[in-house]
Formats: sequence, structure tokens, C-alpha cells
Amino acid sequence: MNLEKKPLLRVLGLKTYFISFGGERIVKAVDDVSFEVSQGERLAVIGESGCGKSTVGLSILRVLPPSARIVAGEILFEGEDLLKKNPKEMARIRGKKLSMILQDTMLSLDPVFTIGYQIEETLHRHTELRAEALHGRMKELLWDVKIPGPERRLKQFPHEMSGGMRQRIVGAIAFSCEPKLLIADEATTNLDVTIQLQYLNLLKDLQKRTGVTLLFITHNLGIVAELCESVIVMYAGKIVERSPVMDIFDAPAHPYTKALLQAAFGLQDLSKRKPIRGEPPNLAKLPPGCSFHPRCAFAQELCRQEEPGEISLGPKRSVKCWYFVKNIH
Ligand SMILES: Nc1ncnc2c1ncn2[C@@H]1O[C@H](COP(=O)(O)OP(=O)(O)OP(=O)(O)O)[C@@H](O)[C@H]1O
Ligand SMILES: [Mg+2]
Repeated sequence: MNLEKKPLLRVLGLKTYFISFGGERIVKAVDDVSFEVSQGERLAVIGESGCGKSTVGLSILRVLPPSARIVAGEILFEGEDLLKKNPKEMARIRGKKLSMILQDTMLSLDPVFTIGYQIEETLHRHTELRAEALHGRMKELLWDVKIPGPERRLKQFPHEMSGGMRQRIVGAIAFSCEPKLLIADEATTNLDVTIQLQYLNLLKDLQKRTGVTLLFITHNLGIVAELCESVIVMYAGKIVERSPVMDIFDAPAHPYTKALLQAAFGLQDLSKRKPIRGEPPNLAKLPPGCSFHPRCAFAQELCRQEEPGEISLGPKRSVKCWYFVKNIH
């Protein structure tokens, strides 16, 4: 990571809550999350299902479901707070400078329009390309994501394609205007291993060519190791560890990160693969203290009572865990 590069995106104290009708149930999906991404950086966001990863991405793009509210925070993109932009300004930024490959591809694609129409619309809105040049670019984009017979595919509707193909089409649309920041949310989940590799290579090429900054939300730690430079680990709506990628694999700091790695790796030796004990907490009813304490083998009395603050472990490395406070002081 290049430390001199200025941040392209700074998220400060972001709180995004899902509030039930009547307001009696509040799910703190993202709770006081701060991080920054430098220009050209590839940052991974990892964590178990339901910890708030997608909600971070959707908050940045401001495409949250109606029950969600951003109750605090700033999202500075190129120095400007996206939370202060009006819907028209946001629509101009979205797709052009800021793109997201949504986890649910059926939400990204409109079922009543052909794939061709949907790609054309994006290119028409955000680029100067017209007529032959525009059509040529559309075919090129499908070739880029390894979809054979682009001419025929452009005439098809989303439901006529497999999940993996739809995922690649969504990727093609997200890349089409060469955004500055691309948020990829589980972009490779529906792809088979070979296509997954091709897709990752495509992202790497795209990055080399355009210098796009990547926020990569994923469950796949193999991809994190392959593609990303730094990682943030989320647990129950909060960041519990941040680190350069190699350090996190060599010496994970938070007991949760350790457990996450242990559950994912040991792939070569299944006997070493250990699921994380217990269940993630209910985000509408978090335990007191450190949210991870009910599942943590190292939990002490303090962990059950007070939430730990962020402890710096070196440049670009930090952890929120009482164990480190105690060992440092
Ligand atoms: N529309 C909604 N209404 C109420 N709660 C929601 C809604 N969408 C998400 N949530 C809750 O917000 C929390 C965070 O969800 P989010 O989708 O951000 O998690 P995630 O980390 O992306 O999970 P996954 O890995 O499964 O994609 C979850 O506990 C989820 O139940
Ligand atoms: Mg998600």
C-alpha cells in the first residue's frame, strides 16, 4: 500500500440502523464504523454472514432499503460528503465514479429489460459513446467478462441466464464506465472455480489499466489473499481488526479473526478446520461489553462489561480487544 496516496474514500463514524415500523426494534447493522481507502488500494471487508458488510457498501452508494437509516457519520468521497448530496447528484456519481456489484444480482438487473438495453443505458448516461462505438463497447464488455456469443446475449433477458452469467453481466455493467471506486459485494460467489479465476484476473487487469480502487466484500479468504492489500474484519456491525493482508494471515490479532481463519483454512487438512463456536449475536440485542465475548475462549470479566477501544498494533494495524490492552499496558 502506498502511504503517500491520499484517501479516495473516508468513512467516519458511520451508523446505519434498520428500524422497524413503529421503531420498537432497532438492528444496528453498522455501528460506528470508520475506515479509509487510498487511491488504487484493494481493501477487503470480511466477517461472518449478517455482520453488516453489505450494509456498509449500500450506505456508501446510498441505495439502502427503506427501513434503513444512516443515523450518524460522514462518507467522504474525493473529500466531499456523499451523505450531503441530493438524489440527483448521487445518481450522477453512482455508476460513473462509484460502482457497486451487488450481492443479489437480481436486484441489479431489471427483469423487464434486455441485458443489451441495460448496458446501453449505463454507457449512454455516463459516456460520450454513441451508435457503432457504443455497440462495439457493449460487445467488448461481454468479451471481457468471458461471455461467449455477445451479440445473442445482449438480446436476452436476465432470467434467461444462469446465476454465474448474471453475476458477470453485473460486473460488466459496473466496470463499463471505469469507476474510481468499485465496491464488489460477493462478486464471485456464484461463479465456478475456473470462471472465478478469470474474473479475478479481469479485476486485476482492470485495476492495472485504470487504477480503480477496490472495496472487496467477501467470505472467500483465498480471494482476499490473492487480490487484496489490506483487510478489515467486521463483527456484529463493528470493525474489530484492520491490517495489511499478509499480517492478518501470518498473525491474526483478534480471537474472532483467528477463528474466522481457522474455519476457512485447514481446507487442505479438513481435520484442522474448525467452525466458530456459537452463533453471531442478534444485532437488535447485543450483549454488553465486547460483542464477541460469549463466543471467545479468552473472555475475561472486563470483556463482559466494557466494550474495548481500538489499539494500534503498528502502521495500518489495529485491533479492538481487551487482551491486547492488557498485554500492552
Ligand atoms: N432490510 C432489512 N431489514 C432489517 N434488517 C436487515 C435488512 N437487511 C439487513 N438486515 C440486517 O442487518 C444486518 C447486516 O446485514 P448485511 O446484509 O449487511 O450483512 P452481511 O455481512 O452483508 O451478510 P452476508 O455475508 O450474509 O451477505 C443483518 O443482521 C441483517 O439481518
Ligand atoms: Mg452481504
